[in-house]
Amino acid sequence: MIVSNRAPSVDGSDDSGGLVVALKDALAKDGGLWIGGAAQQTERPSASLVLHHRADFDIGLCEMESGLYQDYYLGYSNSVLWPALHGRLDLIDVQPRYAAAYREVARRLARTIAEAVAEDDLIWVHDYQLIPLAHELKALGVKSRIGFFLHIPLPDLQTFKAIPDWRDLARWLADYDLVGFQTQRDLGHMINIFRHTLRGELRANGNMGIDGREIALGCFPISINVDGFRRLADEGAADTPPPPLPRLIGVDRLDYSKGLPQRLAGYEVFLESNPEFHSQVGLLQVAPPTRDDVDAYKEIRSELEHLAGHINGRFGTVDWTPVQYIHRALPRDQLAVLFRLSRVGLVTPLFDGMNLVAKEYVAAQDEADPGVLILSQFAGAAEEMPEALIVNPHDPQDIARAIKAALEMPLAERVERHGALYSHLRIHDVDHWSAAFLKRLLSVERIGVDGVAHFPGLEPWAAAG
Ligand code: ADP
Ligand code: G6P
Repeated sequence: MIVSNRAPSVDGSDDSGGLVVALKDALAKDGGLWIGGAAQQTERPSASLVLHHRADFDIGLCEMESGLYQDYYLGYSNSVLWPALHGRLDLIDVQPRYAAAYREVARRLARTIAEAVAEDDLIWVHDYQLIPLAHELKALGVKSRIGFFLHIPLPDLQTFKAIPDWRDLARWLADYDLVGFQTQRDLGHMINIFRHTLRGELRANGNMGIDGREIALGCFPISINVDGFRRLADEGAADTPPPPLPRLIGVDRLDYSKGLPQRLAGYEVFLESNPEFHSQVGLLQVAPPTRDDVDAYKEIRSELEHLAGHINGRFGTVDWTPVQYIHRALPRDQLAVLFRLSRVGLVTPLFDGMNLVAKEYVAAQDEADPGVLILSQFAGAAEEMPEALIVNPHDPQDIARAIKAALEMPLAERVERHGALYSHLRIHDVDHWSAAFLKRLLSVERIGVDGVAHFPGLEPWAAAG
């Protein structure tokens, strides 16, 4: 059973956002039930899940009142946790009703799940919107194994402590059987937080002992359906003409964590210091709207539009528009072709759990004539993709230098860097990610109230024997 705030659309239409894109690929293979809390707002919510059947898997939606949902989603999740976990303490907006709504949504979801779950079901909870869920499920007597995966970064202890409810959050995380992270960086932060807050002790097997229980921890870098995305690029590229000029591409939800103004500032420095590239290159930035009702998101939108207009006004000519900006989601097959036909992929978040766009860009390339990935040192993907051109997204000069190096990189070097990135990706795809997490969750040994070790799928006597 997968549980997340955002579930894929019931009609299968285009979804953006790494969580839905990756899980859709993972679940489509084996089927299952995906329980989602978002987008089902009604003043008379049903006490049970509202079920929808898709060809690939089932979706169960938990209804809730819109006021409650706003305080939980726009409020606690995206005005407190999202900025805090991305290290943007300046953007946190703490209101007392937000924390209460966050807890209440977890309670509601737990009640609907408790009704539907069987003891040997595995429950896999996703992301910062639902941290208290295991706590609430256990309070209702649910005995299933419960794993949690954090898609976004976990900051260091000092930053974490800026969240008013940090102690509760740490305790709720310790209620899971397995907690997974995108990177070693985040895993290290969790160990430190558990040590400091709950006197956790790191065991030789990498698990953490807390209050007489053992919690498994692990690093599971999320990925994409590499072969599927590559196929989309191959098919589309066959009948799409290449762009008139070499293209740089950026594809990101319009989120302040993605470093979009900093990216444009880097592009501006590049144009300023390399006049020979004027009219010889173009930047396409695709940035669909996201969480529009939160003020910080309104601000980033107008900042980006202002900067794009500024660069076009400063350098553009009658025949050349240096920045093309599209503010909506595009179908995946179109994205795959755009990546394939772009000379440079720009992925420069200020802080990111993983960043799937980096992996999509690499998967979409033609191995014989690949483009170059420019990647922020603060994207989780940088731990796995050292052959990209790694940049500091806060330094426009560094971005400008990398753009020039990418555009001038000889074919042999492009092929070598891409080859290394692509062969890593082909093994570490989204199936590898979900299989690794579920295998670890299944192997977690649980000490029951009777003090006996229980192994999944085995009666205690069988495990002991
Ligand atoms: P996040 O999860 O923070 O949004 P990721 O880069 O990990 O960031 O994942 C974003 C996902 O959303 C990718 O699969 C990407 O292709 C998709 N996406 C981003 N922008 C668009 C867009 N304009 N149209 C369609 N899909 C998009
Ligand atoms: C990131 C988060 C996901 C979220 C997605 C889109 O990927 O990790 O939990 O679903 O962004 O954001 P949204 O608020 O639209 O669900």
